[in-house]
Amino acid sequence: MRVTRLRCDYMENPVGFDFDRPQLGWQVICDGRDKLQSAYRIQVSTSDDFGETVYDSGNVMSSESVAIRLDIPLSARTRYYWRVRVWDEKDCMSDWSEAAFFETARMGEPWKAEWIGWTDEFPQLRRGFSVIKPVKSARAYACGVGMYVMFVNGEKAGNEYLTPNFNAYDSWLQYQTYDITSLIQQGENAIGAWLGNGYYKGRVNWPEVGYRDRIYGDKLAFIAEITIEYEDGTREVIITDESWSATKSPFLRTEIYDGEIFDAQAYDRAWSRPSTDVSGWDKAIVVPIDKKLLHARLSVPVVAYESRPAKLIITPKKEKVLDFGQNAAGFVRFKTRAKAGTRIHLQFGEELNRNGNFYRDNMRTALAENIYICDGREAVYEPYFTFFGFRYCKVSGLDEIDAEDFEQVIIHSKMDLTGSFSCSDERVNRLFLNALWSQRSNFVDVPTDCPQRDERMGWTGDAQVFCATAVMNADCDAFYRKFLYDLAFEQEKMGFVPVVVPFILKNTGFWEIPTTGWGDAATIMPWAMYVYYGDRAILERQYDSMKSWVEYMRSKDIDGKNLYGGFHIGDWVAQDTRDPDSFFGLTPVGLLATAYYALSSEILSKAAKVLGKDGDAAEYAKLAKDIREAFRNEYVSPAGRVVGETQTAQVIALYMNMLTDEQIPVTVEQLANRLRSDNMHLTTGFLGTPCLCPALSECGLNEYAYALLMQNTCPSWLYEVEKGATTIWERWNSIKEDGSFGPVKMNSFNHYAFGAVCEWLYRYVAGVNPDERAPGFKIFTVRPMPNDALSHAEASIITQYGEVKSGWKLEGKSITVEVEIPFNTKAEIILPDCDGKKVLENGSSIEGSRFTRGSGSWTYTYEPTFETISRRVVFPPTPRI
Ligand code: BGC
Repeated sequence: MRVTRLRCDYMENPVGFDFDRPQLGWQVICDGRDKLQSAYRIQVSTSDDFGETVYDSGNVMSSESVAIRLDIPLSARTRYYWRVRVWDEKDCMSDWSEAAFFETARMGEPWKAEWIGWTDEFPQLRRGFSVIKPVKSARAYACGVGMYVMFVNGEKAGNEYLTPNFNAYDSWLQYQTYDITSLIQQGENAIGAWLGNGYYKGRVNWPEVGYRDRIYGDKLAFIAEITIEYEDGTREVIITDESWSATKSPFLRTEIYDGEIFDAQAYDRAWSRPSTDVSGWDKAIVVPIDKKLLHARLSVPVVAYESRPAKLIITPKKEKVLDFGQNAAGFVRFKTRAKAGTRIHLQFGEELNRNGNFYRDNMRTALAENIYICDGREAVYEPYFTFFGFRYCKVSGLDEIDAEDFEQVIIHSKMDLTGSFSCSDERVNRLFLNALWSQRSNFVDVPTDCPQRDERMGWTGDAQVFCATAVMNADCDAFYRKFLYDLAFEQEKMGFVPVVVPFILKNTGFWEIPTTGWGDAATIMPWAMYVYYGDRAILERQYDSMKSWVEYMRSKDIDGKNLYGGFHIGDWVAQDTRDPDSFFGLTPVGLLATAYYALSSEILSKAAKVLGKDGDAAEYAKLAKDIREAFRNEYVSPAGRVVGETQTAQVIALYMNMLTDEQIPVTVEQLANRLRSDNMHLTTGFLGTPCLCPALSECGLNEYAYALLMQNTCPSWLYEVEKGATTIWERWNSIKEDGSFGPVKMNSFNHYAFGAVCEWLYRYVAGVNPDERAPGFKIFTVRPMPNDALSHAEASIITQYGEVKSGWKLEGKSITVEVEIPFNTKAEIILPDCDGKKVLENGSSIEGSRFTRGSGSWTYTYEPTFETISRRVVFPPTPRI
């Protein structure tokens, strides 16, 4: 029995975060069946040998091992080591786990440092200092606006990109904490900072909403306090102030959308080393920015995950294009020794056009380029102040290109990738990977819509519809926590949840609206984090935001009819209108808005119950019930036909529990007919798609869900895959049958919303379902719903308790279902098409088709009835799918 994977606030050894009574969690690796934790003991110390402890929980008789609140007073700028041991159900004790740690930031200590900058657009700032005593530890607490990179003795501090990350800068500014102990040397030292525009000062938004820059401020500035603790117990603090030197940096452009221009001819490689001569430099100037905005970080670091090699293509137009094989967010790092003055020009694109030439029109106004002006010396270059969404990179300015000099560096926010899915159809496996790649590409600090064009914003609707998939694909609790923290700030300012967070579409007129399905990110996302990760603190933190979103909708219900109406963008990019290029679907927006109003009220009621707010729990449960009744009166015929005749309308009504038991079969039949007359093609947009397959599987039309999954003509998931997609497209027709592109005004090849089908792959095909009564997979349900469109499928999720697996395989007349249940959890296993069948469980025969089991590996073999497994959708004129 071994205690492992210690997490603090769902992060591994976090440094410099805002810890508000941190939540601790761990996993136990243990062989054997039905193993449970009966007790635990946590020790916390400021030294890693635990010589003296600042907290010892003693033996706590509890099976809890997730989200345990550490309720002790914490000191600023302190590293706390902690370890855990547990007892199992037979009272056997584990060893102590290895020590994990978390380190506090300044915890409200006032800043002595000043914000400093310079007159020029892109300054470099610097100061030297000497160290003459042995150093025990050194930390830099730093922030910069728009963006900054800090260097110590010529080395970049930390391994992060795009600091200080992107948040509602008018509400708070996140400072980072760097452990720079190993960068400090005896004798002379130097610290430097480069500044660039970022979303703070740079150009954001697209032409229709007005190109805008300087949204948050027009001055670039940097602030830092470097604290050096000496072995002799003394401390020295170096701060930013007017004693720093400033001059022009080598950057000529630092834009998120347009990219970066770096002039190596103006680059003194020693600028942040002690040896540089600063006699020609100016003095830095103090920039008036409110220091009270500074706050310990919540953003998880954006880091480089992997790098991919290039293949050189010469296109019919004779362009030199590098193909990295995968659309992703990041940049190109390259090596060069080209002669001085050479301009190496990299342009980024997601697809080649149907003639095989480089294509980038769908970037709209984003130039998405990097220019490096060579100084004749050998150099390895990567950009500092931008990133791109790309698979292809066109290189100009070089006569000869060696593909080996270039690599695609993939960046995204730090998160453990926890989910996997595979099945007998390679195209479905690619679809799963495409969704995962779109998640990775769009988890660059903010859950963005897309990583490539002049947008890259935290669209709340996209985040909401993909959230249930995202939380299984990866451990993104900390990532979403920061997004929701910002969401609440923006909501408070606007009075409603805006369409993007941070709200950089402020003052753009049209987009200053709430819209159904987007605003509901406020309720749906925290609830998912509670259900999938057991994160109770998120409900506490977000409760007011959840409630005020529901109250906002209620305030719009002017006649007290329990309907939410008004203008909404609705089922975005659905295919049910006559115009396949349209943005707006046909589903009545009032129907959608009222269904989401009910869903959000219900979630709020459940959250209130978890938090012991019984009055609210009852009130919002009643509200949800009343809204559902109003929905039926307004949008459902007495017999049960849903108005609107769209797939989305019917699916939403079914999936969001809007119907009475008597009405359900009528809508189910309506939906089955709808799908058959749509020739078994989906027509759903952003709001309908995530619910489509789950609704079908839930209401007895599992074979319809599989038929949609296996469909390979447009619109369908596998159509994209067969067209060579390596990520999820924004539109079902992003590439048309003839190879031409969909409407260029809005056509991203890396938008995760339609990848929400992966929730269905995990929960219905493989059958792994959390149980909100015992969140975090403490208790879960395994209910695979196979169909012989596939011969096997399996999924695995590393939950907070350990790895959950479920898979099935059809072989001739028999099926084998395999399930892994982690230590300290239980699952209810429901076997498909099993009634009245003889079942072998791990080789021994047992009775029944539903079992509750504890930890261990469980294998079931039997000859199923095939009642649902071999069902196919039959409809004229083509009976085969
Ligand atoms: C974005 C979307 C977003 C939508 C809302 C688009 O421009 O890319 O993903 O949700 O607008 O209208």
